[in-house]
Amino acid sequence: MIDIHSHILPGIDDGAIDLEKSLEMARQAVRQGIQKVIATPHHENGRFSNETEFVKERVKAFQQELDNRNIPLSIHTGQEIRVYRRLIEDIEANKSSTLHKSRYILLEFPSDRIPSGMKDMVHELRLLNLVPIIAHPERNSEIYENPTKLIELVNLGALSQITAHSLLGDFGKQIQQISLDMCNNHLAHFVASDAHNSTTRAFALAEAYELLQKRLGTDIVDSFQNHANSIIHDLPIETYEPVWTKPKWFQFWKSK
Ligand SMILES: [Fe+2]
Repeated sequence: MIDIHSHILPGIDDGAIDLEKSLEMARQAVRQGIQKVIATPHHENGRFSNETEFVKERVKAFQQELDNRNIPLSIHTGQEIRVYRRLIEDIEANKSSTLHKSRYILLEFPSDRIPSGMKDMVHELRLLNLVPIIAHPERNSEIYENPTKLIELVNLGALSQITAHSLLGDFGKQIQQISLDMCNNHLAHFVASDAHNSTTRAFALAEAYELLQKRLGTDIVDSFQNHANSIIHDLPIETYEPVWTKPKWFQFWKSK
């Protein structure tokens, strides 16, 4: 298994606080059956800034620590980038960058809204042959209220990544249900751990895939795992047109 979103690097964001905690997370990832992890520290979120070259150095140093201890896990460079005004310029200046030097770039929205001008930004990124991946859209309240707004971005060429803990119900039943609906309606293309530690926000990828398989079948698990592999090898990802027929539970909830 490949995990495309994690905060495993020690001491640079709100993920692992030190090397010992990072090593605990790495051992947990291995126990889950994960072989490759893309380290995606927060970047430009108003609290943390981790430019590409800095992340690369930290990945190299952490990989050395893992190798020294014979922990069989590969760490790759990435960032979870809060959408900001200079993003395109900073990509060109190599301050903000894609996942493992691929065409795929992991973007985070504020939790309460879709950033203004987002459709233009998706369009601009696509013109640069980059593919934005929207991190955890199921936890964004504007999208939650109106999932067709995510369809608009996906139709422009964006992809989306659901968080394992959302699928497992750790953020509540409603977020769990909308996560499953997004997966089932071609509105999600990846599941990732977004692990921050080995306790409350752990690598729960194996459990999330197991639940997906039980609820939606093997094909979706295979396709999500293939998509994650496509990032590592920078291969194109073929998608289906998203659909959103409001599920009964959603109408009921909205009418309350
Ligand atoms: Fe994250």
